[in-house]
Amino acid sequence: MEYKNLGKTGLKVSELCLGSMQFGWTAPRENAKRVFDAFYDAGGNFIDTADIYSRWAPGNPGGVAEELIGNWLKTKPRQQVIIATKVYGAMGDGPNDRGLSRKHILDACDASLRRLQTDYIDLYQTHAWDAATPLEETLRALDDLVHAGKVRYIGCSNIPAWHLVEALWVSDHLNLIRYDSLQPHYNLAHRAEFERELQAVCLKFGIGVIPYSPIGGGLLSGKYRRGFQAKEGSRSWNLRHAFTERNFQIIDQLEEIANQRGKTILQIALAWVMQQPAVTSPIVGANTVEQWEEIKGALGIRLNEEELEKLEQVSKWDE
Ligand SMILES: NC(=O)c1ccc[n+]([C@@H]2O[C@H](COP(=O)([O-])OP(=O)(O)OC[C@H]3O[C@@H](n4cnc5c(N)ncnc54)[C@H](OP(=O)(O)O)[C@@H]3O)[C@@H](O)[C@H]2O)c1
Repeated sequence: MEYKNLGKTGLKVSELCLGSMQFGWTAPRENAKRVFDAFYDAGGNFIDTADIYSRWAPGNPGGVAEELIGNWLKTKPRQQVIIATKVYGAMGDGPNDRGLSRKHILDACDASLRRLQTDYIDLYQTHAWDAATPLEETLRALDDLVHAGKVRYIGCSNIPAWHLVEALWVSDHLNLIRYDSLQPHYNLAHRAEFERELQAVCLKFGIGVIPYSPIGGGLLSGKYRRGFQAKEGSRSWNLRHAFTERNFQIIDQLEEIANQRGKTILQIALAWVMQQPAVTSPIVGANTVEQWEEIKGALGIRLNEEELEKLEQVSKWDE
């Protein structure tokens, strides 16, 4: 595993980040420790979570992923692990239990620290943007958390390019902590949302990029092929709209390259994301140690110009 600076900061993060949304949702909670251990043993130091994970799943009140990380973290030297969590999602039914107000950010940070059983968060991210709260209020609350020693760096996710630039401007203008990372949805089958404008913003301003769903939530894992019938209620049901001819052509091309290299479709799909301009560390979801082992096989793959061009031809997007 190699380590890269997160954007312009001095923080070194592993070239793969491990997601935790799956535990207590699509993967049993008992799997978490084994997957975290396998990731850590491979040199991974960067784990992503969110307070809300995964409140939408039956029987999950939210906060479960943070609790699992907190329990695991006690078995490791705290300073060796970079914990990234998020605030924004509704953690209760009250009007102030969500969003990016000063009140909710300060309440949510304390709740995350309790669940994570730590006294600081390495990277605190806004999970989405909040049109109902002034940016100055959000950034000042985050700045206060940094000065209080509860947060080390801040980042954002699911934000339009103009709003990210506005946030950088407000931080600069008011001398507040700035967003040093972006967490966008990005993979070979979902390029335009990041590449249209956000990529250029991140390159221009030195913002680290930690893309989520780099294998399309399983779409590019190799298990879905033409004719696959998604069953209602199964994991594949969430992906049914992505079972398009264009995406199957991407999978065909990945397979050709994978076969030539003795690798798997998933590994080539992930290697492509890792090689894209501005990308620091894709956030992968592994439900089991076996899934992690296959993901780990993407480390060290460097696609050549010809392979990149073939993937470009099948995945490029229109204006
Ligand atoms: N900021 C945001 O709004 C946001 C949104 C989404 C995710 N995230 C973060 O990003 C992380 C990763 O997201 P993601 O889960 O969508 O990422 P992903 O890596 O694209 O997809 C992970 C899924 O792919 C399947 N998979 C993984 N390895 C496999 C293998 N070897 N063989 C077959 N299938 C395999 C598994 O699903 P099945 O086995 O169930 O098919 C797994 O849950 C999350 O945990 C979370 O931390 C953030």
